[in-house]
Amino acid sequence: MRMAPRSALDVAERVLADEPEHRRATFGLRLDRWWGDLADGLRAPYGEAADALALRLVELAAGAFARRDPELARLDEVRTLAPDWFQESSMLGYAAYADRFAGDLAGVRAKVPYLRELGVTYLHLMPLLQPREGDSDGGYAVADYRTVRPDLGSLADLSALAADLRAEGVSLVLDLVLNHVAREHEWAEAARAGDPRYRAYFRVFPDRTEPDEFERTLPEVFPDFAPGNFTWDDGLDAWTWTTFNAFQWDLDWSNPDVFAEYADIVLFLANAGVEVLRLDAIAFLWKRLGTSCQNQHEVHAITQALRAVVRIACPAVVFKAEAIVGPGDLVHYLGTGQHHGKVSDLAYHNSLMVQFWSMLAARDVTLAAHALRALPPVPSTTAWVTYVRCHDDIGWAVDDADAAAVGLSGPGHRAFLSDWYSGAFPGSWARGLVFQANEATGDRRISGTAASLLGVEAGEPERAVDRLLLGHALVLGWGGVPVVWMGDELALPNDPAWADEPGHETDNRWVHRPRMDWEAAQRRSEPGAREQRMFDGLARMARARAGLPHLHASVAAEVLEPADPGVLPVLRRHPEGPMLGLYNVTDEWRPWPVDRLVELGLHRDLLDALAGAAVEPSPDGAVWLAPYAALWVVSAPARTLSP
Ligand code: GLC
Repeated sequence: MRMAPRSALDVAERVLADEPEHRRATFGLRLDRWWGDLADGLRAPYGEAADALALRLVELAAGAFARRDPELARLDEVRTLAPDWFQESSMLGYAAYADRFAGDLAGVRAKVPYLRELGVTYLHLMPLLQPREGDSDGGYAVADYRTVRPDLGSLADLSALAADLRAEGVSLVLDLVLNHVAREHEWAEAARAGDPRYRAYFRVFPDRTEPDEFERTLPEVFPDFAPGNFTWDDGLDAWTWTTFNAFQWDLDWSNPDVFAEYADIVLFLANAGVEVLRLDAIAFLWKRLGTSCQNQHEVHAITQALRAVVRIACPAVVFKAEAIVGPGDLVHYLGTGQHHGKVSDLAYHNSLMVQFWSMLAARDVTLAAHALRALPPVPSTTAWVTYVRCHDDIGWAVDDADAAAVGLSGPGHRAFLSDWYSGAFPGSWARGLVFQANEATGDRRISGTAASLLGVEAGEPERAVDRLLLGHALVLGWGGVPVVWMGDELALPNDPAWADEPGHETDNRWVHRPRMDWEAAQRRSEPGAREQRMFDGLARMARARAGLPHLHASVAAEVLEPADPGVLPVLRRHPEGPMLGLYNVTDEWRPWPVDRLVELGLHRDLLDALAGAAVEPSPDGAVWLAPYAALWVVSAPARTLSP
């Protein structure tokens, strides 16, 4: 451990002069513990400016530490004693737009009992800080990070909601949009007004020379409605970098002032009671000529330094990386090599999500098993965020080499998935919409609610529920934090009126961002209703999961060689015994050989922890899985099986 230098301790002592002795001591211990991570993280991106920046950050951290609410300061201590809190098998996430779910923040407070009924312990509210007016990319174009969208409530309402949630054991998760700001943000306004300090916050080019050089290797995120990666701005009298929409201006993270601004925002949100920060579009932070300008190593160094600031000031808070990148780049967001254990605590398991959809359409697990087996291990102190779908489109991040290894063509399989999920493929039960068809690459991403992609509108509503329950069994059975997208707990279909709201008409991702149907939610207690099967099935799964130590995220999920091309086997080797998840992705009965259970150490008192019932092999030496069935096989302790 590298202790903090005198200069950093002096800064802390000055800022904390009026704090009680034990608080000063706590801060000093944390500063020593995390100084190395901070200093090393700043070195690569900021070089000679790193030392001065580190002292600025210590000052910000100490200030935030001094202002921290006593209840949050207590949570910091609790989480320091139990740093694996987010890895527990009791975790269940839910993600929603506050307004579409419950009107406003006060409405969300009123719905906490609904969330608890489902078993939710983690609530991601979609962007709710003051966005630009008009189209704001669903709030991802932030105009002011310190103000809540007025129609949703105030900052005080946000803190009150966070406190209510905390009292119920639910962590509040918010986005930290840090790759870009709205062109209406005060930094962008100042840049346009000619202030050189703020011009340097952005990537500004007098002509097309550099943009054209960069464009040679840059992909396009929104080729349909925001082609290219640069936008001319009259006020700037220059081109500026806009990876996403023209109104979202990318920041220049090589400028230490930008880092300091965001550190301050992070500390501000932490002190408002936010417990998990979702680092939006984190892959795009660092630009390098001749590359895709994603996944550059400086991104991880920056995350490490930001993480260290949080660990010093408010260790109750963790980071979640939103990096929707190929499988080979993904694991680095949980920390590999020198960044092991030092960057984000959570990251979206985009590969698992994509492979779920791929398996279901293909009725075959071969590609998924190969691709998931090829993923390198992740640090045992981190956790995947697993999900069936989210607010974004589904892009077919299937690696060409993985496809080739199992005899498929990458482009061919991706085209099949787009055809299947847009309903164009003969026999498809899906009713998705094509998002951002890209002629140059052949990519066609897909929008649609999970239930509509799984057949709820195509004459097989009950099958759609089976498939949706299977998907949730897979993501709940993986370990980590499974996150349910609002409405999936009721198998809500596509929103047919998605294009009617101003600003949404060109962005069909709104088809799977319906307003909550509270009437449908009422039917969760009507026996036999579709909503009841789905809600109850999911809530039961969450309860079963919470009782399984095997699902603590420190234990790796190992995908085994399939025994049947329709059944994905996922093993977790826990000191208390193995757990084997079996997932039948077909509409037929499929077998799993009993002797392979025995090989894995599963030979007596076999329990399917999902159903809470004994596993009964048939005389032919197999355990048979019903269409779309999932089993979580464990050796039951005698007490579980006794009546
Ligand atoms: C993330 C969000 C997406 C948004 C983009 C730009 O990928 O999930 O909805 O469009 O970032 O902020």
